[in-house]
Amino acid sequence: MTESKVHVMDRDTKNAIAITGLRKSYEQSPGAEATYAIDDISFEVPEGQFVTLLGPSGCGKTTTLRCVAGLERASQGRIEMGGEVMFDAGRKRDVRPEERPIAMVPQSYGIWPHMRVIDNAAFPLRHGRNRTKGPEVRRRALEMLEQVGLDAVADRWATQLSGGQQQRLALARALLGDPQVLLLDEPLSNLDAKLRAKLRQELRSFQKRFGVSALYVTHDQSEALALSDTVIVMNKGRVEQIDRPERLYDHPRSSFVADFIGSANLFPVREASSGAGGGVLARTDLGLVLCARTAPGEQVRPHDGGFVCVRPEDVDVRADDTGDGQAATGDNAYAGVVESAEFLGDRLELVVRAADLPVTVSTRAGQDLRPGREVVLRLAPAATSYLAS
Ligand SMILES: Nc1ncnc2c1ncn2[C@@H]1O[C@H](COP(=O)(O)OP(=O)(O)OP(=O)(O)O)[C@@H](O)[C@H]1O
Ligand SMILES: [Mg+2]
Repeated sequence: MTESKVHVMDRDTKNAIAITGLRKSYEQSPGAEATYAIDDISFEVPEGQFVTLLGPSGCGKTTTLRCVAGLERASQGRIEMGGEVMFDAGRKRDVRPEERPIAMVPQSYGIWPHMRVIDNAAFPLRHGRNRTKGPEVRRRALEMLEQVGLDAVADRWATQLSGGQQQRLALARALLGDPQVLLLDEPLSNLDAKLRAKLRQELRSFQKRFGVSALYVTHDQSEALALSDTVIVMNKGRVEQIDRPERLYDHPRSSFVADFIGSANLFPVREASSGAGGGVLARTDLGLVLCARTAPGEQVRPHDGGFVCVRPEDVDVRADDTGDGQAATGDNAYAGVVESAEFLGDRLELVVRAADLPVTVSTRAGQDLRPGREVVLRLAPAATSYLAS
């Protein structure tokens, strides 16, 4: 206990959670090489923020969350909450889950079917870190149920609730534990699309209203972008990028992030050199591409390999009426043929074959761009990135 409070930071940058160098491998069969479910993970959840762990199935999101909750023991690294050390593999410090200032909402909600709604909600008041007694329990539980719109069904059995109501009950119960951090593992994944969209907005407004920090897990990129202050993109047990949603979309650091967040055209680079104005000139199968956009805060050292990345909406497409491909002159202009065209109401989604590469293009509807049409593609250098990996 001696080192608690040592790491309290100044008020403006106080972290609800700070994780450093976390590593965890599960038991392997004897003789098998150890593989890490999470491998040297470090990140922070600033107080009051909504931070999301995003990545494909098996990348280590749940493992990370369970380590934070104390349900899983990491083999290396350190976890602090509000400046206090909860876990330190080196110093053999490991605060028990029930002593950590967290509440977890698991994917299945963990609602107890043999209890009424009110008793489910009141559980942390009766058994949690900050216990209450007597009529105060029911009063506070009812008050919270009212906040989440469940006061009218307080005396029903929990099994009589719909999926969305169960999700709200799980949230009410978590909030009644008065946690500093809410841990949420894909809490919307077994609801239908419409309810998901509604509840994610609700979740965000509860989180703000209660001023609680949140660490949220999802593999759904649109959910992550819509909800989060900060997104941590994970891949194979490692952190790929930590950024605000807009920056992740506009400035992905790797082809993995570009591809996982939204859709992206990624052209492998054969040779790269420094281009005009600090950009990168990349030779690809499409031709030479000038990329003015590079990863944020990084001095880009072009090397052979890597990718040119451009979003479909940043590719300009025009019909080429010359019929001989000669219109494709100037920087970043390429001749191609429309391979498929999908009308999506407000826009056209095209696949254009240019130098044998499929290029996805999103353009406003109204142009006559049917399959077979010859076109010129232009990639605005300012919207075209060079990604080193
Ligand atoms: N109890 C366990 N025993 C052995 N291996 C495990 C265990 N739990 C998870 N793993 C392995 O650890 C890796 C990370 O799993 P984890 O459950 O953290 O992934 P995830 O990102 O939450 O995936 P999903 O989106 O499918 O829930 C996977 O390779 C998984 O097979
Ligand atoms: Mg999981």
